[in-house]
Amino acid sequence: MPPTRVIIDTDPGIDDALALILAFASPELSVEAITTVAGNVTVAQATRNACLLLELVDPRPRPPIASGATRPMTRPLRTAESYHGGDGLGELSRFRTEGGEPRYPEPQQRLAVQSAPALMAELISAAPGEIVLICIGPLTNLAMAIQAAPTEMAKVKGIVVMGGAIQAPGNITPGAEFNLYTDPEAAKLVFTSGLPITLVPLDVTQRVLLRAELIEAIVQHIGSCTTQFVRDTTERLFGVEQARAGCAAIPLHDPLAVGVVIDPSLVTRRPFYVEMETGEGPAQGMTIADRRQIKDEWKQPPNLQVCTEVDAGRFIALFLERICRLPA
Ligand code: RIB
Ligand code: CA
Repeated sequence: MPPTRVIIDTDPGIDDALALILAFASPELSVEAITTVAGNVTVAQATRNACLLLELVDPRPRPPIASGATRPMTRPLRTAESYHGGDGLGELSRFRTEGGEPRYPEPQQRLAVQSAPALMAELISAAPGEIVLICIGPLTNLAMAIQAAPTEMAKVKGIVVMGGAIQAPGNITPGAEFNLYTDPEAAKLVFTSGLPITLVPLDVTQRVLLRAELIEAIVQHIGSCTTQFVRDTTERLFGVEQARAGCAAIPLHDPLAVGVVIDPSLVTRRPFYVEMETGEGPAQGMTIADRRQIKDEWKQPPNLQVCTEVDAGRFIALFLERICRLPA
């Protein structure tokens, strides 16, 4: 079976970096492009981080990287450096080679000439029904692409969105998840677009936890550049999670969105009508799913497939096996 052709829209971000590694390590996927968006960090930092990751992994052929939205559609940008570190990747400048050189030097930045939304629309319309768009940051680029090129974007095979919280609590507010909270207007436009969307919410991503001791064991055993990077980029975050939640474990939010495309059997999907809260109050950015047990004719037709269950053990095993595959 030929690999699934994917575009990954991302705001790296530590878990974004882990998701990109998983994608490049998986023969089931062909990464056609990476598009960057402001979210965890500024879009300039996100683009720099994507370039650093590509230099580390060095996939052949190397997909284009296109830079996208510098801020949400209508709201100011609120980044998450307190969680991901000032560089968005766990403060990698701390790490040195034996010779005292930076272990992760500044990457070359050779970017696509198109903006992220333009590259998305161009690639999707050039391969009707073939490309899956995986969105693991705020949905600003996707919303802008739908607004600017609706006919082209309608040729997408499917869209997988890491975002939202259906029955689970939020992670940036008591009720809202970071990606959709950051740009709820973009999410509302995407959710009402009629495009084929699978939502990977906190309900499932909070169940796929990467534990510190697992990474230490792998680096001792494998010791490739990739596993060393995984250790280095997560080291600070394990401390943040220990302080914040009392457990040295990182939810693999974005890697699971990639995992859902690699192996759809990892999750259970159910159709729901989901609305975005775009008001200013404490419910801002919440995803409201119609879970009422009433007949279909009494409620709005579903607009999303929502992942409600995950085989967490099988996904973690897949993730760990794949990150060990990349070259030394
Ligand atoms: O809520 C988790 C999401 O927000 C992930 O995509 C993480 O990278 C942050 O962007
Ligand atoms: Ca992200």
